[in-house]
Amino acid sequence: MLGRKKSSIIFVIVFLPVVFSQIPLGSKLSVEDKNHWASRNGDFAIRFFDRLNEYGIGIRINSGLIPVEKQPVVWVAGGDLRVGDKSYFELTNNGDLVLFDSTRGVVVWASKTSNSSVAEAVLQDDGNLVLLNENKDIVWQSFGTPSDTLVPGQNLSSSQVLRAASRNSVSSFYSLRIGVIGDLELKWENDVVYWRSTARPNQSDLRAVLASNGALQLFDNVSSLVWSVFAEDHGESDVKFRFLRLDVDGNLRLHSWTRNSWKIVWQAVENQCDVFATCGVTGICAFNESGFPVCKCPYSLSSVPSPKCLLPYQQTCKSGSSMIKLDHTSLYAIYPPNETIISQVSSNQCQNLCEQDRLCTASTFINDGTPKCRIKKTQYVSGQSGSSITSVSFVKRCSDPIAVIPNLSRSKPANPSQNTTIEDPDGAICVSCVIGVGGVTILVFIVIHVGLTGYWIYRRRYSYTTRAFSGDGPNPSGFLPMTYVELKDITDNFKHRIGKNTFKGVLPENQSVVVKDYGAMNVDQKKFRRLVLKLGSIHHKNLVRLEGYCCDPSYRFLVHEFLTNGSLESCLRDPGVRKRLTWRKRLDLLLAIARAISYLHMGCREFIGHGSLSCENVFLDENFEAKVNEFGLGGSAGGDGDGGGVCARDIWDFGLIMLAVVSGDPQGGNGGCDVAYEKWLGGNVAEIVDKEVVEGGVDGDELERVLRIMFWCFQADERMRPPMGEIVNVLEGAVAVDPPPHPSVCCKISSEEGSETRSNSND
Ligand SMILES: *[C@@H]1O[C@H](CO)[C@@H](O)[C@H](O)[C@H]1NC(C)=O
Ligand SMILES: *[C@@H]1O[C@H](CO)[C@@H](O)[C@H](O)[C@H]1NC(C)=O
Ligand SMILES: *[C@@H]1O[C@H](CO)[C@@H](O)[C@H](O)[C@H]1NC(C)=O
Ligand SMILES: *[C@@H]1O[C@H](CO)[C@@H](O)[C@H](O)[C@H]1NC(C)=O
Ligand SMILES: *[C@@H]1O[C@H](CO)[C@@H](O)[C@H](O)[C@H]1NC(C)=O
Ligand SMILES: *[C@@H]1O[C@H](CO)[C@@H](O)[C@H](O)[C@H]1NC(C)=O
Ligand SMILES: *[C@@H]1O[C@H](CO)[C@@H](O)[C@H](O)[C@H]1NC(C)=O
Ligand SMILES: *[C@@H]1O[C@H](CO)[C@@H](O)[C@H](O)[C@H]1NC(C)=O
Repeated sequence: MLGRKKSSIIFVIVFLPVVFSQIPLGSKLSVEDKNHWASRNGDFAIRFFDRLNEYGIGIRINSGLIPVEKQPVVWVAGGDLRVGDKSYFELTNNGDLVLFDSTRGVVVWASKTSNSSVAEAVLQDDGNLVLLNENKDIVWQSFGTPSDTLVPGQNLSSSQVLRAASRNSVSSFYSLRIGVIGDLELKWENDVVYWRSTARPNQSDLRAVLASNGALQLFDNVSSLVWSVFAEDHGESDVKFRFLRLDVDGNLRLHSWTRNSWKIVWQAVENQCDVFATCGVTGICAFNESGFPVCKCPYSLSSVPSPKCLLPYQQTCKSGSSMIKLDHTSLYAIYPPNETIISQVSSNQCQNLCEQDRLCTASTFINDGTPKCRIKKTQYVSGQSGSSITSVSFVKRCSDPIAVIPNLSRSKPANPSQNTTIEDPDGAICVSCVIGVGGVTILVFIVIHVGLTGYWIYRRRYSYTTRAFSGDGPNPSGFLPMTYVELKDITDNFKHRIGKNTFKGVLPENQSVVVKDYGAMNVDQKKFRRLVLKLGSIHHKNLVRLEGYCCDPSYRFLVHEFLTNGSLESCLRDPGVRKRLTWRKRLDLLLAIARAISYLHMGCREFIGHGSLSCENVFLDENFEAKVNEFGLGGSAGGDGDGGGVCARDIWDFGLIMLAVVSGDPQGGNGGCDVAYEKWLGGNVAEIVDKEVVEGGVDGDELERVLRIMFWCFQADERMRPPMGEIVNVLEGAVAVDPPPHPSVCCKISSEEGSETRSNSND
């Protein structure tokens, strides 16, 4: 029989167990034969994989460096399609790539290229399966229909979507795509964007690429870089493979293969419980003692673990209802994800509002500066709980008789005033196990999880040595590694000292920079490198840009952009400059600083505290636009402990900056905020304001807003200080702010924060 086929096929079939790289028409893979097609470098192969006696076909990393059971599948034909054990995958003689399912007896997936004069297929070294015509033009490619994974070099264009492997029919689905404003977006269903990149280039014709050195990058239509993030092991040479996958739990992660295992080196949503509906209808997300996210159903009516965790109240409930209080719990509606938000209510009112509304099933009270009550009208809710969550939720329970009276309060009758506090009657269901819901077993999930894990291509070590100062065009994230000799060069042998350990320098393209010496003695090299990578991945127009660094064994330098107008402190000390800082400019300044800090606190992969925010660390460019510097050094590099503490401190410090900017005195005016508060209380606000701006005119409403939010920042009880995001909203005029209570501890510039706590601060 073989003799009748073309000689090239005979060669392949007779002498090689697999077809390498070039796949002629008529080639076939089948479940029974367990054969595969490999790329020329052997890094990728396309073959059937087993999912508990059902099969799928896909491209997986095939490298001998990775044990077979850890080889991740990076592309699957037909997504979640599963076929029987006599199925085959064929490049037909008319050029169509088809998957035939033996169970159903039909072709279930095809590339639909029979009219495109396909001459052969090639599995390229980068993992792309392409169909070529006689002219070697690509007619179809697997990169054109990505599954849940991006391998290095693969483009995700604005018309493409990465979709997480499906969990079950009920639960939600997650996708990654480029949204209309040009950001990468993680979306739940079509409604909810729960993560996005922060580029906002206002165009949607972009592409996302995973660079082989471990950076996830977004390029615009003319291939200039608009956004990037870096993996922990960015640029490290011992990483053999990388891949980016939208994992089953809705988080986007970068995986790399180092020292014989797959590691997660970056994930989009730092706190897994912040992934919208990560628990679906199986409950609410919490971390167990070992720090793993698990799904719990705190209000299940049955003692048998159920795949669904619905609220125990339906709108047809006849015999009335009672409310269950869940402390440290935040709930949100998922089907539909709509809620009614009522602001300026107390926790008790929030409970009553739900109790009295026949349609309400649950409510959540949140106080993030402005107290809010979020009313839910569906039985489908998800959420999260944990000691760090300050929200309280109220769940309505129907009093209609039911067959089995559940043992709701298995734990101690914790809070006598709240008569039903329920805790975890069902035990925990791990997030990963959610996939088991709906007929798929846990084992399948594990197989998928392990199987899909990871990938990609082994590249030579990225050599920094080829990098010259003047690259082609601007590179927004391109901070450069520099040698000590280069630093000497750009600073003219450290000639122009402009501050403590700080020198002015000029890059070859005439850009002025500030070079600061952190001292090899003071910072460990590895830690410094990690810090640089982190700082280099932070981009905000109101943060001073990192231009380069030097991390030789005996040197630690950071190189930043130079801003012509110097620090805010020096500007406020200069009467001439102060005059030029009109009320409008000052408000813009505050807003810029607030946005920058808010971005650090909330917009970054991990919380970044500033830690030493002050007028000295805020710089003004030629247009008096503010940029914050020295971020991330005191806040997390030094003591990467309590983020909450640094956060509260930043808010306090921002209060001091507001006072300095309003009063025109870097020391906060006579008597600090106590005196300012008394003046505000007495209606003498004009006395607080810098005389230099009064002449130019001050908007009374704006001033009132600034002062109110400022006094909130000075609250001794850290929990009463507004989050930075709220401050931004207030300064923008988007939300109203209540009159603040007395700050109650002295708040002069020099004063340390008091530890005194307001007695009436509870609740
Ligand atoms: C190929 O072309 C023929 C004739 O033009 C058409 O009937 C058929 O539907 C086409 N097939 C595909 C897969 O486009
Ligand atoms: C990705 O897109 C760029 C720009 O369009 C292109 O040059 C490059 O070849 C593409 N890469 C792949 C693997 O298709
Ligand atoms: C995008 O558009 C918005 C509104 O049109 C504008 O405020 C913003 O500055 C633009 N951003 C960029 C990067 O052009
Ligand atoms: C790129 O996008 C911008 C903004 O949408 C547009 O003005 C420009 O013409 C585009 N350039 C190309 C080469 O498509
Ligand atoms: C936490 O959850 C993980 C994953 O389900 C599990 O392996 C671990 O044993 C759990 N730890 C505790 C203390 O329950
Ligand atoms: C949910 O919100 C959408 C859009 O905001 C609206 O069209 C829909 O009617 C709302 N559904 C409910 C149940 O309120
Ligand atoms: C309820 O809990 C009590 C004590 O924990 C136990 O004795 C009783 O059997 C439980 N009832 C049900 C219906 O599970
Ligand atoms: C809980 O409170 C409701 C109404 O406030 C009351 O009817 C019920 O008896 C209380 N339950 C317990 C166990 O105290």
